[in-house]
Amino acid sequence: MPAPTIAGVSSPPTGGARLLRVDPLSPDRAAISEAAAVLRSGGLVAFPTETVYGLGARADDAAAVTRVFAAKGRPADNPLIVHVAGVDDLGRLAAALPPLAIELATRFWPGPLTLVVDAAPGIPEVTVGGLSTVAVRVPAHPVALALLAAAGVPVAAPSANRSGRPSPTAAAHVIADLGDRIDVVVDGGPCRVGVESTVVDARAAVPVVLREGAVSREQLGLPDGDPGAGEDAAGSPGTRHRHYAPRCAVEIAPPGGGPARADALARVGRKVGLVAPVPAGGDVLHLAAYADARELATALYGALRSAEEAGMDVVVIESVEPVGLGRAVMDRIRRAAAG
Ligand code: TXA
Ligand code: MG
Repeated sequence: MPAPTIAGVSSPPTGGARLLRVDPLSPDRAAISEAAAVLRSGGLVAFPTETVYGLGARADDAAAVTRVFAAKGRPADNPLIVHVAGVDDLGRLAAALPPLAIELATRFWPGPLTLVVDAAPGIPEVTVGGLSTVAVRVPAHPVALALLAAAGVPVAAPSANRSGRPSPTAAAHVIADLGDRIDVVVDGGPCRVGVESTVVDARAAVPVVLREGAVSREQLGLPDGDPGAGEDAAGSPGTRHRHYAPRCAVEIAPPGGGPARADALARVGRKVGLVAPVPAGGDVLHLAAYADARELATALYGALRSAEEAGMDVVVIESVEPVGLGRAVMDRIRRAAAG
């Protein structure tokens, strides 16, 4: 709904980006072609994936990728994930294809697993943050796949948030952070998974987790007791930077609902369930009424953004067991709390 203005010139509520709404399961071809054309000509296009919204630019266009870093305010040493339409494209981006990469791509793609391999020559330095490796994934989302196929080029896409902010799991989050600095937002509804992909180094015999994410260590066949990819991890440059922080305080409560601190805070504010709308003017949002880590993952970033919009001072989040998807969820919550 365009806002009324003088002389009939509408000023869209998007901050300037063109908003293309598509059906998440069978996206309109004309809209996808339009977004793909913008990508091909070096524009910035935000689009949904199964994990979070990405901010896409053609990976082979240094100027376009430079604009992505500028729009996000992202440190130049933090490389981007290159998104492709199918397993075959991995061969064009990698200098060599380690057997492990082929195995993992076959098993998990399309899906929320990002593979780091040695980069083929010719990929712009800005895309890979000056590294000799490249991170690649095939997203499991009909809109992302349609867009990648129509664009016909590899698409570098970090999460479509301002650097340091919670990742966007809805088009409205993208518009709030970046609407005035990008060309197109493809709105394909909310993201199903809600936390980012798992980043693994696929160059050795066993996968090395560089960033915890939607594919768990258990799914990768890695031992349970392994330390997570924490602040000290050498691997993924992005995990060194401040991340996922909303503009209100985040506190972590033990699982199970009985923590004194959380209850005290909930009493001074309002205790609301995860899926309930956040009441305006409250002080504390207590994230507790979720069924499991999966449901918390899907709702987490949106809840953090709703809480700050509603003027909450504190978000208290009941923790989940750091196993399976819970490990990535707790990693993000700890980072949000540290921010
Ligand atoms: O689910 C996701 O991964 C989303 C969607 C849009 O695909 N993307 C995403 O991108 O989360 P971003 O840029 O927010 O996070 C990418 C992570 C960063 O931690 C970055 O350092 C790491 O991947 N990364 C990228 N290239 C790498 C490389 N060559 N070696 C090690 N880590 C790399
Ligand atoms: Mg990100």
